[in-house]
Amino acid sequence: MLTDSFCRKINYVRLAVTDRCNLRCFYCMPEEGLQWLERTELLTYEEMLRLSSILIGQGIEKMRITGGEPFVRKGMMGFLASLSELSGLRQISITTNGVLTAPLVPELKKLGIHSVNLSLDTLDRNRFFAITHRDEFVNVTNTLGQLIKHGISVKINAVVMDGKNTQDILPLAELTKDMPVDVRFIEEMPFNGRTDDYKGLSWDHLRILETLQQKYPHIQKVPDPANSTAYNYHVPGHKGNLGIIAAYTRSFCGTCNRIRITPQGMLKTCLYGNGALDVRALLRNGASDAALVQAFTDAIQKKPKDGWEAEANRNSGPSSIHESMAMIGG
Ligand code: 5AD
Ligand code: SF4
Repeated sequence: MLTDSFCRKINYVRLAVTDRCNLRCFYCMPEEGLQWLERTELLTYEEMLRLSSILIGQGIEKMRITGGEPFVRKGMMGFLASLSELSGLRQISITTNGVLTAPLVPELKKLGIHSVNLSLDTLDRNRFFAITHRDEFVNVTNTLGQLIKHGISVKINAVVMDGKNTQDILPLAELTKDMPVDVRFIEEMPFNGRTDDYKGLSWDHLRILETLQQKYPHIQKVPDPANSTAYNYHVPGHKGNLGIIAAYTRSFCGTCNRIRITPQGMLKTCLYGNGALDVRALLRNGASDAALVQAFTDAIQKKPKDGWEAEANRNSGPSSIHESMAMIGG
C-alpha cells in the first residue's frame, strides 16, 4: 500500500498519455497550441504498462487515462486493451474531449472501460467554437449519444468561465433530467498555458450552487462517494446527478487518494505542485522494479498536505502555476 505522511492511501493514478490535443480550450492552452513534446519524450506504451503493473502491485486499484486528448495518440486502443488485461485493477476510466471517440465506443465497452468523463462546456455550437477554437460540437454530442447507448457511465465536465459560458450552467444541468448522465461544474483553475492572464475566480462553487438552487429549489445534497472531488446533488425526478468541483478552492485535499503521471513521465503528487519524481529517467536508466517501488514510496511520503501547500512550494519559471493542464494531465 502506498500511503503519505498524512495517512492517506494512494490507490488512484491519473496517467496522461499525450500532451497533444485536437481542441484548444481557452482554459487549458493558447489558441496556437503548445510546444508539443517530441515523441521520444513521451513514455512509450511499454513503459506505461510496466509502470502500471508495478503500481497495481502496490495497491493502485483505479486508473484514469487522460491527456491532452488520449485518442490523438496512435495505438491508444491497443494500449487500453493491454491495460485492461492487467489483473488487479478495479476500474479503468478515460477523460476525453469526445472529438474522435464516438466510433470507438463499442470497443471501449468491450474492453470493460468503466466510465468516461466527457469535457463539454456548452450546448451551443457557436460558444463551443469560441471556447475550443474548433468546430467539433457535433462530434462531441455524437460521442455523448454513443456512450449512453452503450451503457458506459458518463460524467460531463464543464469548466465554468466568467463571461464565456455561465449561461450554459442551467441548460447543461437540464441534461440530467432525461439522460442518465452526471454533469459536473468545475471551478476554473489557472492552468491555461498562458502566463499570467488568470483573472482570479469569480465563479466559485458557492456561486455555481446558488445558480442551480434558483432554478431547482428542491435540489438535494446527496452523499459524496469516498474520495470524491465533487459536491454531489440531485434534483428529484432527474435521471442523473449534478456535481460541483471546487478545483480552485481546493476543499477536497484531505481525502486525496491520487497521483498523476504527466505525458513526459513525471510523477506529480499534487495537481498544484512541481514534479515529484522523474519516472522516465528511472525507467530508461534501467531501474529495477524494487528500485521503482522504493522511489514511489519515498516521493509519495512527501505528498503535500493540500493544493495550497503544493502551490506555495512550487518553483516559478516554466513549470509555474500557469502550466497547461495538457502538460499536467487533466
Ligand atoms: N480549470 C479547470 N478545469 C480544467 N480542465 C482543463 N483545464 C482546466 C482549467 N484550467 C478540465 C477539463 C477537462 C479535464 C481534463 O480538465 O474540464 O474535462
Ligand atoms: Fe484539449 Fe482537454 Fe485541453 Fe480542451 S481541456 S484543449 S480538450 S486537453
